[in-house]
Amino acid sequence: MKKSVLDYALKVRLPLTLFVTIMAFVLTFYVSRTERDGIGYAPDQPIAFSHKLHAGDMEIDCQYCHVGVEKGRHALVPSVNTCMNCHTVARKDKPEIIKLTKYYEEGQPVPWKRIHRVPEYAYFNHSVHVNKGIECESCHGDIAKMEKVEQVKGWTMTACLDCHRDPHAEMPDLVEVNNGPENCFACHR
Ligand code: HEC
Ligand code: HEC
Ligand code: HEC
Ligand code: HEC
Ligand code: HEC
Repeated sequence: MKKSVLDYALKVRLPLTLFVTIMAFVLTFYVSRTERDGIGYAPDQPIAFSHKLHAGDMEIDCQYCHVGVEKGRHALVPSVNTCMNCHTVARKDKPEIIKLTKYYEEGQPVPWKRIHRVPEYAYFNHSVHVNKGIECESCHGDIAKMEKVEQVKGWTMTACLDCHRDPHAEMPDLVEVNNGPENCFACHR
């Protein structure tokens, strides 16, 4: 009798418990993936602004709106004024543009949700990358095809270093580019 209880414990309970534990681990691992590296994060924005329409179909230059990319650390998201260069006229009777106009008239910034972010203790700078000819797409994916911006690449330390160690592998068309720094103080200042 005792033996068969032990048998049961070893042959059925143990593997079952192990299986459940491992599955629970695997599941939380994948479920928490987005939280860990941000890939796939695509929040709804206060105004349904489409990059596909503006940057894709209408071919408005990225830098018309993201004026900081060549000058400094941040790309910057445009103020309502930039939108109103066109939207005092264009589609001004549409619900989303009425919302936009309300922010403009009240002097309020649109509370856009931030998507890409590296932690405070790491230093990233757009201009050093963009001025070397690295395309927005290398890091952000094909934004000009996105109705709604989605993060397609993680910003873990490994992700930065993968490109720094071998930028030519990630960007074969970019001939004249040095390797990026690997020393800690370049990114942790
Ligand atoms: C007409 C203005 C405009 C143009 C042109 C434009 N953007 Fe944007 N961009 C915005 C606005 C507004 C947001 C914030 C709302 C959103 O995420 O959609 C934004 C957000 C982004 C974000 C996400 C920012 C974050 O929070 O992490 C990226 C990346 C981006 N744009 C890249 C590009 C690239 C690359 C191009 C050119 C292919 C481009 N944008 C062209 C206005 C513009
Ligand atoms: C260079 C001119 C220009 C700028 C700058 C611009 N837009 Fe537009 N936008 C347009 C035009 C033109 C359309 C209509 C395109 C169409 O439907 O074919 C449009 C369409 C839209 C629509 C869809 C409206 C609808 O429901 O039909 C939204 C929302 C919008 N824009 C938001 C914005 C926001 C937010 C900004 C600033 C970050 C912005 N636009 C900057 C020209 C511009
Ligand atoms: C080498 C990779 C890389 C390239 C190239 C790059 N970005 Fe970024 N971008 C990032 C990272 C990383 C962040 C998050 C930065 C942070 O948290 O400080 C970011 C953040 C942003 C943001 C959010 C606001 C901000 O200023 O931080 C916008 C908008 C943006 N990028 C647009 C662009 C555009 C437009 C281009 C091309 C002209 C571009 N990026 C090129 C990596 C890149
Ligand atoms: C797609 C490739 C690529 C990615 C991704 C990338 N970098 Fe770079 N980075 C480079 C290259 C190439 C250089 C060197 C440019 C040169 O000097 O020729 C560089 C240079 C730098 C520098 C040196 C700036 C200076 O002042 O000299 C810093 C800091 C940096 N990167 C931080 C980061 C961080 C942080 C990340 C991740 C969030 C990142 N990079 C992601 C390609 C990349
Ligand atoms: C190319 C830029 C870059 C270089 C070089 C770099 N780091 Fe980082 N490091 C980062 C970024 C970006 C993060 C944030 C990663 C995240 O959120 O997962 C980070 C995170 C960290 C963390 C936090 C632990 C973690 O994984 O969350 C430690 C510790 C760290 N780095 C130490 C170092 C040391 C030590 C060196 C030198 C051997 C170094 N880093 C070189 C970009 C860099």
